[in-house]
Amino acid sequence: MVEALEEPGSISPFFNPKSVAVIGASSKQKKIGYVIAKNFIESFTAKLFLINPNAQEILSHKCYPDISSVPENVDLAVIAVPAKSVKEVLEECGKKGVKAAVVISSGFRESGKEGAGMEEELVRISRKYHLRIMGPNCMGVFSSTSMVDTLFIPRYRLKRPPQGKIAFISQSGASGIAFLDWAAGERIGISKFASYGNAADIDEADLLEFLARDEETKVIAMYLEGVKEGRKFAKIAREVTKEKPVIVLKSGITESGAKAALSHTGSLSGTDEIFNAVVKQTGMIRVYDWEEMFDIARALAYQPAARGNRVAVITNGGGAGVMIADELEKHGMTIAKLSEKTVAELEMNFPPHVTLHNPMDLGGDADNERFREALGAVIDDDSVDSLILTCIPHTPTIDLESFVDMVVDTKGKNDKPLVVCLPGGRVSLEIRELFEENGIPTYPTPARAALSLSALVRYGGLKNSG
Ligand code: COA
Repeated sequence: MVEALEEPGSISPFFNPKSVAVIGASSKQKKIGYVIAKNFIESFTAKLFLINPNAQEILSHKCYPDISSVPENVDLAVIAVPAKSVKEVLEECGKKGVKAAVVISSGFRESGKEGAGMEEELVRISRKYHLRIMGPNCMGVFSSTSMVDTLFIPRYRLKRPPQGKIAFISQSGASGIAFLDWAAGERIGISKFASYGNAADIDEADLLEFLARDEETKVIAMYLEGVKEGRKFAKIAREVTKEKPVIVLKSGITESGAKAALSHTGSLSGTDEIFNAVVKQTGMIRVYDWEEMFDIARALAYQPAARGNRVAVITNGGGAGVMIADELEKHGMTIAKLSEKTVAELEMNFPPHVTLHNPMDLGGDADNERFREALGAVIDDDSVDSLILTCIPHTPTIDLESFVDMVVDTKGKNDKPLVVCLPGGRVSLEIRELFEENGIPTYPTPARAALSLSALVRYGGLKNSG
């Protein structure tokens, strides 16, 4: 085995290069090298060099026959040529002094013994020239700030998400695309994305370590099929969770899943018991599908961690309040006992049919003002650590126009986490978007709202214990 290169600083050129070369750029629209070149041309503002031995120009950009002909330094090379040519191309990159290479090409370790040997050659070149490699067999990187974008999915098929605080790293390109598309559709911001494929050089632990220091990233979400070096991963993950939350989606947990992972990214999945023990030791938050990951990521990105597990529930729908109470208990949270002061204050102003204990049911006739008073009193109550606001927005007394502003204003500067549950279809959807724009994570079901809040409580617990 070739020795590992562990320098987190050397990952920076993948996300913030001063110059990029696309090797295998093509003028044929269906080709991966065309899409990558086009994406860079459209939005990357630093220097770009296209490499193809058979073209003078691609997309009105001058083409160079090989990287050694480029007259300037190159920080990042994006390699999209067939597997058999990658070794030679990478060696040229090394000689040129390129710092980082994304190898998109498939046909390495995931394809069997011969491919594994070819991959080992790439690692040797990486060590020889101190050239870091992402991949092979990957989608590569996306940064919403530098607009490095090696994803070979056209933008009319996958809108890129806006700038934000969630970083996502994924062994699988397809999982990455699903997550990014979801984020773009819901206007949830992403700081950085990396699909690292076979992890010949840079692996999940290296990326975690890098993102822990990244100021643009508040929460790290990751999709794994296997872990390359268990001890290194556990050690780094334990350190990183002290800085910021790490959400992990690990597949390959059944015999069939593990077989699929081996032929997908050449990963050995390991036993689920061991992985669960690592999750527990390191303080990562484990999820089991994309929806859970996305829900929890936006809660952790936009709300503070909770100081304790006492939750207040305010609703205008009794049934939703009961469901939330069930979900909170399932996740180990408790229904806060409101202080006498809070209850007395609200009792004076509210009609007798309002339920003043927690979950607080404001009644089907609750208007914005009743919500405002309840929210203001409960959020200031010292016996409450966090809050779920559940509104059935369809009732005639709710003023939809101003409801979101009212919640945002009332919550004020209080740093207790708040998540919102807005059940229903079209009407709820519109308001959900407005809440999200204001940094308040909003969910269509009690189960999703409670699960997301539980991540803020668990992460708060981890921070308090450390
Ligand atoms: N230097 C520069 N350009 C080169 C080159 C070299 N050494 N060798 C070939 N090229 C050019 C080709 O001439 C071609 O340009 P053209 O379209 O103008 O003819 C271009 O690079 C691409 O090469 P080509 O042989 O046509 O390959 P391709 O585009 O059909 O496939 C890959 C290349 C990398 C996309 C393909 O091998 C592959 O691995 N596909 C799977 C990728 C994948 O799924 N990755 C994992 C995602 S999660």
